Amino acid sequence: MSGASMRGKVALVTGATGGLGSAVSALLHEEGATVYLTDVDQERGEAAAADLGDHARFIRLDVTDEDAWTAAIAQVEGDGVRLTTLVNCAGAALKKSLVDTTLPEFRRILDLNLTGTFLGVRAAGRHLVDGGAIVNLSSLNGVLATAELGAYVASKFAVSALTRVAALELADRGIRVNAVCPGSIETPITDGADFADTDWDAYVRTIPLGRRGVPEQVAQAVRYLASDESSYVTGTDLVVDGGVAAGRRTPRRGAEAV
Ligand SMILES: NC(=O)c1ccc[n+]([C@@H]2O[C@H](COP(=O)([O-])OP(=O)(O)OC[C@H]3O[C@@H](n4cnc5c(N)ncnc54)[C@H](O)[C@@H]3O)[C@@H](O)[C@H]2O)c1
Repeated sequence: MSGASMRGKVALVTGATGGLGSAVSALLHEEGATVYLTDVDQERGEAAAADLGDHARFIRLDVTDEDAWTAAIAQVEGDGVRLTTLVNCAGAALKKSLVDTTLPEFRRILDLNLTGTFLGVRAAGRHLVDGGAIVNLSSLNGVLATAELGAYVASKFAVSALTRVAALELADRGIRVNAVCPGSIETPITDGADFADTDWDAYVRTIPLGRRGVPEQVAQAVRYLASDESSYVTGTDLVVDGGVAAGRRTPRRGAEAV
């Protein structure tokens, strides 16, 4: 069932052709927002915007490129509208132990996940209407560390920290800044060779709700934080992880659960 919780909003979504970004773009659009889908993948981005139809437009935006942010904001303003909402979805993971991680690999993950989010928050802080909202995609790995995800974990803890600072600094303009922290969601981010040896059946047994999430469940959390339904919520992490961050369960003899 669709509502109108985003009616009158103008949202820019980064990484909008990805698993979570496309679900977020579709839901915000369905809920009445004008949506600027942005990504480095121009072909898929244009197709995704065309699929959504009216009130959806693609702009190519590499989130690590300071000038590209300026150009993207100028394109939105050129349409005669002002952004009310920014959702920072662009990101990537690297599965490697710290001792095996090269400096270029570490910098690539920090540059995309953290610096890209910083540039987005800064652009939004300068251009969002008063009373707007920023939602950053942090991660369960922004509140709980996982071995062999060192660069990613460091970037996501930092995204959650940056979210709180931005919330404090932008509060006097009524701009709310929050993070969504998804657990393991079925998207292309874990399709790469890095994750090929993951035992997903065993992984799922570590999740209290007993299943991985789907992008639409994360999109609902983003929609809540992006809409006026969350008008008194700022500077928080909304964890969407099937219960993993809640703590550990005690293993029972003979049971398979971890
Ligand atoms: N899927 C999960 O399990 C999960 C869990 C927690 C957090 N997250 C976070 O959610 C966000 C989205 O993840 P996803 O699962 O949709 O990943 P995804 O790999 O499906 O999508 C990532 C998107 O980012 C885009 N992108 C890559 N580099 C870019 C750049 N420099 N500028 C702009 N766009 C760029 C890609 O083209 C792609 O469309 C990421 O920040 C990720 O860390 C995902």
